[in-house]
Amino acid sequence: MAILPIILTPEPVLRETAKPVDTITDELLSLLDDMADTMYDAPGIGLAANQIGRLERVIVMDCAKDGSAPELWKMINPEIIASSAETAKLEEGCLSIPGHNSDVVRPAEVEVRYLGTDGNMHEMQADGLLAACVQHEIDHLNGVLFIDHLSRLKRDMIWRKVLKEAKARI
Ligand code: NI
Repeated sequence: MAILPIILTPEPVLRETAKPVDTITDELLSLLDDMADTMYDAPGIGLAANQIGRLERVIVMDCAKDGSAPELWKMINPEIIASSAETAKLEEGCLSIPGHNSDVVRPAEVEVRYLGTDGNMHEMQADGLLAACVQHEIDHLNGVLFIDHLSRLKRDMIWRKVLKEAKARI
């Protein structure tokens, strides 16, 4: 169990494409545990490998409402296999772009296929917050950030602030 440092924009690893996992090793399982600890500690509802500087295709999520039992998802090689034509607009934020939440439009429902920590393939159907979250996290594995889904004007506005904040950190 460990809390890992979260990588912030504009670190280049957030723009890289993560590679599929071939074998589930103990190291990978403990990475997923650490990612879950890191997500809960932040606190956040999802975390992708790129955000802790790793390039395996793995994500963790927990979109359970405050006060209800945890619903931890650990997904290896997650892939969206179907998306609804219907869209939904939800406010999103990102632990790698803290303080810059914005409404994002995405397919309202998705079907995801992934390898579980049990070594079996699973399929999951998601709507609502979980659908937005799983799309956001899979985007990370492809080097895509939620701000990429915004209008150019809005994205540029956030990006200018992000660069200013990054400069202030040095
Ligand atoms: Ni994010």
